[in-house]
Amino acid sequence: MFDLLEGMERTKYCGEFTDEYLSKSVVAMGWVANRRDFGDLVFVDLRDRTGKLQVVFDRSKFKGDYDKVDKLRNEFVICVMGTLTKRDEDTIDPKSKTGFIEIRVEDLKVLSTSLPIPFQINDDDSATDALRLKYRYLDLRREQVASKLYVRNEVCKIIRRFLDEYGFLEVETPILGKSTPEGARDYLVPSRMFPNKFFALPQSPQLYKQLLMVSGVDRYYQIAKCFRDEDLRADRQPEFTQVDFEMSFVSKEEQVMSVTEKLIKLIFEQIKGIKFDDFPRMTWDESMRRYGTDKPDIRFDLELIDITDLAKECTLVPFKNAATKGGSVRILNGKGMFDKLSRSELEQLVTFVKGCGAPGMSYISFEDDGTPKSPLLKFFTESQVAEIIKRADAKRGDVVFFVADEKDKVVLTSLGKLRLHLAEKFDLIDKTKFAPIWIVDFPQFEYSDEEKRFVACHHPFTCPKDEDVEFLFSDPARVRAKAYDIVVNGYELGGGSIRIHDQELQDKMFKALGFTEERISSLFGFFLEAFKFGAPPHGGLAFGLDRLVMLLTDSTDIKSVIAFPKVQTSADLMMEAPDFVAPKQIQDVYIDLIKPEE
Ligand code: AMO
Repeated sequence: MFDLLEGMERTKYCGEFTDEYLSKSVVAMGWVANRRDFGDLVFVDLRDRTGKLQVVFDRSKFKGDYDKVDKLRNEFVICVMGTLTKRDEDTIDPKSKTGFIEIRVEDLKVLSTSLPIPFQINDDDSATDALRLKYRYLDLRREQVASKLYVRNEVCKIIRRFLDEYGFLEVETPILGKSTPEGARDYLVPSRMFPNKFFALPQSPQLYKQLLMVSGVDRYYQIAKCFRDEDLRADRQPEFTQVDFEMSFVSKEEQVMSVTEKLIKLIFEQIKGIKFDDFPRMTWDESMRRYGTDKPDIRFDLELIDITDLAKECTLVPFKNAATKGGSVRILNGKGMFDKLSRSELEQLVTFVKGCGAPGMSYISFEDDGTPKSPLLKFFTESQVAEIIKRADAKRGDVVFFVADEKDKVVLTSLGKLRLHLAEKFDLIDKTKFAPIWIVDFPQFEYSDEEKRFVACHHPFTCPKDEDVEFLFSDPARVRAKAYDIVVNGYELGGGSIRIHDQELQDKMFKALGFTEERISSLFGFFLEAFKFGAPPHGGLAFGLDRLVMLLTDSTDIKSVIAFPKVQTSADLMMEAPDFVAPKQIQDVYIDLIKPEE
């Protein structure tokens, strides 16, 4: 067969040539990144995954067909053979690690030509995101884009080494499974062999990993693909990767948390050179109270303050109602922000908070001499105002924001979002910092207004705190779970729990969640049955690999750390997926298509 390379072998990657090879005959291969043509002298920057190397074609020294050199264009794939030489002093590029050497080319092979490409590989800003994603393989030729894949690879190596050392067995679990509708929407796969039946792609390997514990695997891990058909955000993809693990013969949260913490610390140390102290811990309750979220960004203060007790006695009806009818009134002190906010900006903040679900927002400003100003003041007594000022530690130049609602969650969430919004607006966050924190003692259930019932906060296999089991039916809102989340810089990096391994308790849990016997048995029958054959106590956790790499590479968009990501609409712009399929394929799986309404 015709061998294009004629047996030539690459001496080194472009970015890896050193003076060790000076004066030697070498071979390099890669893409033409840039070409400067001076007629009898042509300079090419040759690029591969390690970097660039200058190669020089000198008509008088070149032994091959110089016509080929004239025809070289950007992104041609070439192989050059020549002598590695030192560059002239005045042409040294100190910014490049190979900037002091070049290959004086004697022979050239053009391995592949290229059409003009839709955007420049070196240019950061000229192309839209959509164009870059359509030609993702070209975008990945850019060093700053590809480098994230290298970090990802390094992280996976550390994970595998660490978990292997700790006795975890890497096991692959199926992608075609069963739909178990808790949590997000499933991606469904119709079955050809079973008309009208569907597989579901795993939202996580949760059931499988617990069954592996029943099987005696004892310690399992997997770098697992997961699928969730949910609305996308900057930190969410429909198809993402979890570092998922589970361990047997553990009954305390601490046992899983300590393994996780060691691993996360190791990754940050090896990738970023950052050594963490032990991660702080905070109960879910405290996190909600102080930050209005269970994913607190603790790199800055600006904490929420509760004044529900004071609002109970005030004369402003919505505040009073909120305070007396099960909701709350909470405040946030924008320290020194009054002077920096115009009237219209203050109004924009009110609109922002309304957009977060709050019925409205009021504020008290502390202008000039520091005396409070606001239409709100007349609804509070002097001593109540004094108490508000004290709790908020309000001073001249501050503006204190108030949100009230009959649902505490609305107040917490909207103020929590305002907190983040203000932090961005006033640059309160030290972006060079990493602030991990464990959130523990999650509630077992949360009330779903949509479903009019309590649903599991984590999943229905999470073990409740021993001391709270007695309230499963009498006061579900009070039950806390043996569940923990690891949060970094306001991102939920991972979450897990100690599981229920006792079938009686599991049965109770399903009942508390309002599942009927039939539903339990049709959805989880196989799972519950397994627990009748000897299940060890166990627990585990999964963290988002994409989110972790996002943090490690200082990225703000999860797409950038995934080789071939999806966009906001869950589409793959490069493959143009999803796409129509042939009618025969649809018939094969017994599907009838419904035209969407206009
Ligand atoms: P959970 O649903 O909390 O737990 O998921 C664990 C972690 O996976 C990541 N993650 C995502 N990353 C990107 N895009 C998404 N759409 C997405 N959804 C989740 C997050 C999250 O913290 N089976 C349990 C774990 C356990 O209990 O062991 C689970 O899946 O970083």
